[in-house]
Amino acid sequence: MADKSYYVTTPIYYVNDRPHIGHAYTTVLADVLARYHRLLDPTSTFFLTGTDEHGQKVQQAAEKNGLTPQQQCDQTVVRYQELWKRLGITNDDFIRTTEDRHKVIVQEVLQDLYDRDEIYRADYQGRYCVACERFFAEKDLVDGSCPECGLKTDAIQESNYFFRMSKYQDWLIEYIETHPEFIRPDFRANETLGFLKTKKLQDLCISRPKSRLAWGIELPFDKDFVTYVWFDALLNYITAIGYRRDDDKFNKWWPATHQLIGKDILTTHTVYWPTMLKAMGVPLPKTVFAHGWWLTGRTKMSKSLGNVVNPMEMVDKYGVDAFRYFLIAEMTLGQDASFTEEAFVRRYNSDLANDLGNLLSRVLSMITRYCDGKIPDYGPDENVDFSGNPEPLAHTAAVHLKLKWAVEKMEKAIQTMRLDAGIGDVLAGVRDLNKYLEQTAPWTLAKNKDQKHLSLVLYTAAEGLRICAALLYPVMPERMGKLRAALGMEDVTPQMDKLKEFNVLKPGTPIRPLDVSLFPRIEVENVEATPSSPQSKKEKRDEGVASTKNMNTEPVKPEGVITYDEVMNVKLRTAKVLQAEKVEGADKLLKLQIEVGEEKRQLVAGIALHYTPEQVVGRTIVIVANLKPAKIRGVESQGMLLCASIGDQLRLVTIDGELSASGAVVK
Ligand code: ME8
Ligand code: MG
Repeated sequence: MADKSYYVTTPIYYVNDRPHIGHAYTTVLADVLARYHRLLDPTSTFFLTGTDEHGQKVQQAAEKNGLTPQQQCDQTVVRYQELWKRLGITNDDFIRTTEDRHKVIVQEVLQDLYDRDEIYRADYQGRYCVACERFFAEKDLVDGSCPECGLKTDAIQESNYFFRMSKYQDWLIEYIETHPEFIRPDFRANETLGFLKTKKLQDLCISRPKSRLAWGIELPFDKDFVTYVWFDALLNYITAIGYRRDDDKFNKWWPATHQLIGKDILTTHTVYWPTMLKAMGVPLPKTVFAHGWWLTGRTKMSKSLGNVVNPMEMVDKYGVDAFRYFLIAEMTLGQDASFTEEAFVRRYNSDLANDLGNLLSRVLSMITRYCDGKIPDYGPDENVDFSGNPEPLAHTAAVHLKLKWAVEKMEKAIQTMRLDAGIGDVLAGVRDLNKYLEQTAPWTLAKNKDQKHLSLVLYTAAEGLRICAALLYPVMPERMGKLRAALGMEDVTPQMDKLKEFNVLKPGTPIRPLDVSLFPRIEVENVEATPSSPQSKKEKRDEGVASTKNMNTEPVKPEGVITYDEVMNVKLRTAKVLQAEKVEGADKLLKLQIEVGEEKRQLVAGIALHYTPEQVVGRTIVIVANLKPAKIRGVESQGMLLCASIGDQLRLVTIDGELSASGAVVK
């Protein structure tokens, strides 16, 4: 973090439709990172977002809506900009690819690459997916559909211009292998490497004849063509910061520190983008970070699939900060997460209403009651005689230590892009403070007129709140600003360097108790269990006043959730592997002879790329015992074995130690 500058980008979003939670997520994540870095050094952070306005998808949306493509862009971009304003997004610039400042540079880059024979003309034949705006070879289709999104593709045959991407294949493999920070998390780097090592990279088609698609940036060397939307879009990351125009600015920010993307656009950002930059002679970004997807049930939430949650509705209902908090705390960075309103309410009630909200109201009300509404003065430790009751002192020392850990862990979490874990640690600090109040029982100290211990405890709790609020400030700027004001602090923006110090709050400062609770509890029975539909009732209310009326009262089983009975229908058993061998002609399969209690069975498992037969013999595995038997590659298989897998890694699910026999029920 001590780097000279911090430059964070989001993808630029298509303007074919309104934004949904997925777009909100990447942008809030970038905002939280930018805000943390600004707290560390306000002058050296740059945060870019924007919109991707060319291409077939936008042209088609315009046709459908009876608009010109430019009108389609102008109308939709406002939805993004309004949402970002509403979500408190602090981007330093917003780039639209239809702006001149972008278009002219794209043309210069194209001309330069063409002059240096990095771009050439040839005939093209293949398939095109409009949803992904990408070309695919016939052989790469899955069941005749797009291998990325599963939607239909169009056959294309035409003369086009190509970028010589294929010649960079070996260089790119080596670059990725020698720069572990380039693609994060590392299993995504393996994904790209897997693809690069098993397939011959093709040259990239970078044009469209205007006769088929007019909505794009014209090729400077051939007026009958426009450039491919990805070639145009990826360049936004550098056109916005002065590439070829303002060297000082460009060199200040580039290479970008974090380019955040969803895993849907991993290939374009870790194959197209680095090879383009290489051909241009521009260094690569330090890190492309691909996060997972927000799912509706088990399906990706997507405009093309039409199953989206509208972030404006969530914000109207629950407030901006609670929404930002949920997005960041709920998704383990890198993994997929399911969005349900139930999960939202559960997390809100437990973390914010119960833990943080309670702590704040306890501290404020006790300071009001026992300390005349002022930050108590317990005096510097050494001058106060605490003899006779050592307990509060011991608890205080312990809670100091825990808060110090929370600060250190959050610092680490920002560096390692594990904000969700960092927030978890801060919340653990909040719970420690609540426990500290239980242990020291200030109400009893007050009854016993033990003012000096009472002051110590309430001062410590208020300091703890100050620290936790600062750590959560980038996630919930508005509420944490209010929390700081309630503690009597003049400056609502925290200073990061004050976090490892105690004794920052000034004794004698009047606190300002809040009229309404910062995080009022949401009544659970009133929550819609599924993502809100476009018709769902929208209730406008004041920030933070959660909706408690007029909502569905029928309990609904949310999509992707199963009942207890359904779980109990799956019979999981332990089994011992007696023999194992490879299945002829199938590199992924192992044929296992297993023992399930008294019974012997044969089972075929897709683990051969990860385990040799010798490695599995003798092991205790877990199987689904009541799966209907099936033939896999002509081999009978009775049951299914459980594995854990992530990216290209796979591990068997086993049991912790041994039981006296196989066939044990797993529950
Ligand atoms: O791909 N879960 O734009 P796009 C999480 N214009 N994040 C999601 C998501 C989901 N369900 N759905 C979308 C494009 N996102 C191109 C990008 S960049 C040079 C050009 C987020 O409107 C996520 O960041 O389809 C994803 O990568 C991006 O929106 C795609 O937005
Ligand atoms: Mg998309």
